Amino acid sequence: MRIAIGADHGGVPLNERIIEELRQTGHDLIDFGTHDGSIPDDYPDYAKQVGESIQNGAAELGILVCGSGVGAAVAANKLRGIRAALCGDTYSAHQSREHDDCNVLCLGARVVGVELALDIVRAFVAARFTGEERHRRRLAKVQQLEMNRSAPGNT
Ligand code: RB5
Repeated sequence: MRIAIGADHGGVPLNERIIEELRQTGHDLIDFGTHDGSIPDDYPDYAKQVGESIQNGAAELGILVCGSGVGAAVAANKLRGIRAALCGDTYSAHQSREHDDCNVLCLGARVVGVELALDIVRAFVAARFTGEERHRRRLAKVQQLEMNRSAPGNT
């Protein structure tokens, strides 16, 4: 699978372990860095790069790592067509794909341990959207919310 990955300084070195894991399991990675956790940078820059790589079809899924995962999720969810899931457990990771068709996984490097994070990544990448009617219906309502957000006069 083609997977884009980005991490701010707070996401290093967890991103390195995820990259290693995904490469070893045969995935094609688009790696936006950073690989230097000593230089403060800004998570929205990585969310933009990862999100745009999904929007333009270069990647099928994205992974964002920051200190808590929260900032990355907030930023990524501003992008049209991006559904970013902040996960700290494997159930949420696979259900976010199966029910919600999420396309970006966000992780907090200061929150989850490495081995749990790798399990979360595996669960997210392996899962597929079920396509069931009830999930499609809910997804359509989410997409409607997204459309309305940019309409003039809406709050
Ligand atoms: C960086 O210190 C930190 O704020 C960032 O990585 C992220 O956790 C924000 O939500």
